[in-house]
Amino acid sequence: MKLRQVGKTDLFLSEVGFGSWAIGGPNWAFGWGPQNEAEAVASIRRARELEVNWIDTAAIYGLGRSEELVAKAVKGHRKEVIIATKCSLLWDEAGNLSSSLDGESVRRECEMSLKRLNTDFIDIYHIHWPNDDARIEEGWLTMHRMMEEGKIRYGGVSNFSDAQIDKVKNIGRVATSQPPYSMFRRQIEDKHLQYCSDNTIGILAYSPLHSGLLTGKFNIRKIAQNDWRLRADEFKEPNLSINLKFVKSLSTIVEKYNKTMLQFAIAWVLRLDGISSAIVGARRPSQVEEIVGGSGWQIEEEDLEEIDRLLEERKSKIKEKNGYLPM
Ligand SMILES: NC(=O)c1ccc[n+]([C@@H]2O[C@H](COP(=O)([O-])OP(=O)(O)OC[C@H]3O[C@@H](n4cnc5c(N)ncnc54)[C@H](OP(=O)(O)O)[C@@H]3O)[C@@H](O)[C@H]2O)c1
Repeated sequence: MKLRQVGKTDLFLSEVGFGSWAIGGPNWAFGWGPQNEAEAVASIRRARELEVNWIDTAAIYGLGRSEELVAKAVKGHRKEVIIATKCSLLWDEAGNLSSSLDGESVRRECEMSLKRLNTDFIDIYHIHWPNDDARIEEGWLTMHRMMEEGKIRYGGVSNFSDAQIDKVKNIGRVATSQPPYSMFRRQIEDKHLQYCSDNTIGILAYSPLHSGLLTGKFNIRKIAQNDWRLRADEFKEPNLSINLKFVKSLSTIVEKYNKTMLQFAIAWVLRLDGISSAIVGARRPSQVEEIVGGSGWQIEEEDLEEIDRLLEERKSKIKEKNGYLPM
């Protein structure tokens, strides 16, 4: 698989990264329903066989479980894989979630992630959410101290505004930014893309399939009752029908390329040079096999224009029905 350089770092990531939120399982508020753990491990191994060279996880995914499964999947091959994980979201014994960027908390979280990942270094450590805005400088400073200690190779931010990155970038280099980006969430095109280019920050785009909606196979009836997607606006009526109708409207364009809708949605994200990689979630090896086909080819300009037009139509319909535009 083609690699892309992250900013001006010596990190070269495969165009598709393995997203391991869903494999964390159902034991928390943002779980994706039941997950077969052997299949989760097999999915990561299949991704590696298909030249996916990096994995995105987070302490919070499955309350530590995702990191443990990543460790299991890469056992004996740690140095051949780039692992990105995240801090700032905490949980207590009852599973209640909170946020902290207190320096000691960030250090403790990092040590716990190293343990769960069974490694002595993290390749890219992201602040997951800047909810604890008053302490983002403190959290960032701690991460940079841990870099000097060799526990972290690169520091990244996720879900940060440009103003929040401004607050930390002079303390220490921001190598990556991890924002959402898909046909349904294009906000980074307004300013963030340019901001990251100006500051040589690599963008790792998350949820390129809009968590399954853009796969061309999404069926709400197959979603488990404890899957977080049932609570999300884009997955509820009237939006769900509008979204799935949009996906259907792309079929003629997609067929031209002899690709699947899912591969098309990934290639659409990768069309921008500023994107260092698209993080795509998978729960079974067969899903991974389709996902990797999203890399290495281009969508023609005239088709991109038609997609823009169809997306505008979708937006108007959602606005008309809701009186507002969801994320
Ligand atoms: N930094 C952050 O705040 C943040 C936030 C969100 C995500 N992320 C990262 O980005 C990754 C990807 O985002 P995401 O997990 O939201 O979703 P995504 O990549 O947009 O979609 C992944 C989902 O699509 C479905 N899928 C994948 N391959 C498929 C196939 N071949 N056929 C049919 N369905 C398929 C699967 O769901 P089902 O099979 O269950 O339908 C899968 O879990 C996450 O895993 C995580 O690592 C980061």
